[in-house]
Parts: sequence; structure tokens; C-alpha cells
Amino acid sequence: MRLVFLGAPGVGKGTQSEKVATQYGVAKISTGDLLREAVRAQTALGKDAKSYMDQGRLVPDSVVIGLVRDKLSDPSCAIGFVLDGFPRTVPQAEELGGVLLQRNVRLDRVINFQVSREDVIKRLSGRRSCPKCQSTFHVDFAPPQKNDRCDRCGEGLIQRSDDKREAIETRLKVYEEQTSPLISYYDQKGLLTNLDGSGGVDNVYQNLTKVLAPYKTV
Ligand code: AP5
Repeated sequence: MRLVFLGAPGVGKGTQSEKVATQYGVAKISTGDLLREAVRAQTALGKDAKSYMDQGRLVPDSVVIGLVRDKLSDPSCAIGFVLDGFPRTVPQAEELGGVLLQRNVRLDRVINFQVSREDVIKRLSGRRSCPKCQSTFHVDFAPPQKNDRCDRCGEGLIQRSDDKREAIETRLKVYEEQTSPLISYYDQKGLLTNLDGSGGVDNVYQNLTKVLAPYKTV
């Protein structure tokens, strides 16, 4: 199973890719998570990426492509993977196609999650994230059991710096300009499935599993 999860910030790509990775035993590759890890570790790459991320702009293609190329070589990707938040530009999609061709494999499906702008803003502004294990919560839709503590590892939850209103606006604009062209790019390749992402988490997942019916869960 080799999937790409596409969609505006906050449509639920991270939430759904986590569930798919667990249920189907495939690797989840989130370029956002990889970049945030590099920022926390204060690597040279992380220091460069931070200012782009805080403002809600895209990190340069060459940086992200390098990260994904390394990750795809990992044995954990042998059974399959879900790419969450990559590719985000046409050059990234072309690079991905080239890397997969070199490995003699191809993408099976690109799922385009669709949620209204209003709902996306609600989801992002209420999101709380665990800086340690990357779990995500929502103050209204998926609150943690203990106030501001991660259910999984107990770490204090934070609000991502790019989940502030101004950065959200920039991210949505960047999505329209640079990422949304990928919808027709993958549609023309016969790989695109549009999925309504507006229901609750379990409801969206149920609809997603219908698209993934040909694959076995672990
Ligand atoms: P990244 O971390 O990928 O952010 P994003 O794409 O903006 O996506 P989000 O993580 O904000 O949203 P999501 O769709 O995963 O939603 P989630 O499941 O968390 O990227 C961050 C930054 O890194 C970028 O801005 C850029 O700078 C850089 N970057 C990353 N990849 C890059 C690339 N390829 N090229 C260049 N730069 C790159 O859900 C959101 C909230 O909603 C949560 O609180 C969740 O609990 C809640 N929720 C989820 N589903 C539902 C539901 N069905 N109902 C109600 N609430 C829900």
C-alpha cells in the first residue's frame, strides 16, 4: 500500500494517516513531523526550516525531498507507506515519481481530503500537539483526558506556532497557490480519490477504509 494524503492544512491528514499506519502496518511519513523533529534537535536543517514553518510558508523543495528520499530507504517502508503532507508542490511530486520509479514501485492512490475553510480554521486553532510523541488533540473535538497532558506519553501539550491565526491564513493561501495544483496533477494520472473529510474522525476513517478495501489490516 503506497498512499499520498493530500489536502489543505487541518483537513485531518495526520489524524487519518496515524490510524491507517497502525491498522494496516505501513509506515507513516509526515514531512511536517520530520521538520519539527529537526527544529527541536536544532540541526542545521531545522534552524533553516524554522522561519519558513513559523510563518506558514513552505520549506524549500530540495530540503524536503532529501528528507523523504532518506525515509523511503528505511526498511519500515518495505510493506508500504502513507505520505502525509508530501508532495506539496509539482516539483516535489515529480521527484517522488522519479524516486519510486528507481525503486520499481508506484503509488497506489492519492486521497484528497475535502473540508470547508471554516471547519479547517476551527480544527487548526483548537489543535494541541504533543512535542514529544507528536500525538494531536483538539480542545473541543478530541480533548485529552487530563488537562493539557498527552494521553499517550504524559508530556505537556503545546499549541504549534503555525496554528496562530496569521500563520493559518498564510498556510491556506500557500496551499491554494502551490499545493492545490496537485489535485489535477494526480487526477490526470488516474490516481486521485476525493474524500469528504468533514465528519467526525471515526466517520471519515470508515469512509477511508472503503477506499482501502483491497488492502489487508494487520
Ligand atoms: P504539516 O505539519 O504537514 O502541516 P499541514 O499540512 O499544514 O497539516 P496539519 O498538520 O496542520 O493538518 P492535518 O491535515 O494533518 O490535520 P490534523 O490531523 O493534525 O506542515 C507544517 C509545516 O511544515 C508547513 O507549513 C511547511 O512549512 C512545512 N512542510 C511540511 N511539509 C512540507 C513539504 N512537503 N514541503 C515544504 N514544506 C513542508 O488535524 C487538525 C486538528 O483537527 C487536530 O486538532 C485534530 O484533532 C482535529 N481533527 C482531525 N480530524 C478531525 C475530524 N474529522 N473532526 C474534528 N476534528 C478533527
